[in-house]
Amino acid sequence: MSDVLIAPSILSADFARLGEEVAAVDRAGADWIHLDVMDGHFVPNITFGPPVIKALRASSPKVFDCHLMIAPADPFLEAFAEAGCEYITVHQEAGPHLDRSLQAIRNLGVKAGVSLNPSTPETTLEYVLDRLDLILLMSVNPGFGGQAFIPSVVEKVRRVKAMIGDRDIRIEIDGGVTPQTAPALAEAGADVLVAGSAVFKGGHEDAYRENIAAIRQAAEGALRKAA
Ligand code: DX5
Ligand code: ZN
Repeated sequence: MSDVLIAPSILSADFARLGEEVAAVDRAGADWIHLDVMDGHFVPNITFGPPVIKALRASSPKVFDCHLMIAPADPFLEAFAEAGCEYITVHQEAGPHLDRSLQAIRNLGVKAGVSLNPSTPETTLEYVLDRLDLILLMSVNPGFGGQAFIPSVVEKVRRVKAMIGDRDIRIEIDGGVTPQTAPALAEAGADVLVAGSAVFKGGHEDAYRENIAAIRQAAEGALRKAA
């Protein structure tokens, strides 16, 4: 298993300086850039859409990991692909035709992800596993940064890992990830850790570097201990 990737969520960045913030977390050691798109309908908050993501592309060459918390998602998939996202993740709960959404994402030449809210069982993914590149397990209810981690996700990671077997599917965790919660997640089999408030606290690049390193060390320390 490769090392755990850290994906800072720019939801916790300074929105007045978004391009600089993306460049700063890139230099500070981010593996991916996590982009939280919210519509005020599927989740009770509104953030940004394709034009903002397109503008941010110039600030970092790292993987743009787009988390769509919008319903419907299908009419907008092409715009997010054109904006430069490498992964597009839709919510299982956001529409009735998950199989179709996943096919549409891959047909755009983009990697396809599904996100599950904390209350949604992983068995709902059983028949789409071969259409998936990423499973994003929410460890908070989507909509806001800085919420408390929901511990039942750790067992869910284990179940998802067993379910995907040897398929090339990444398991990503989103919500309440900190150096305290990262070890159990890594040990259970998470590959990508999203962190918003735990990365952007401090408000400048040196703090971001320390924050990212602290999460990474906590996760990798747990993996070494388990090996
Ligand atoms: C929540 C978003 C998360 C959020 C995580 O709906 O999907 O990506 O930014 O924030 P923290 O890390 O602060 O819990
Ligand atoms: Zn997210």
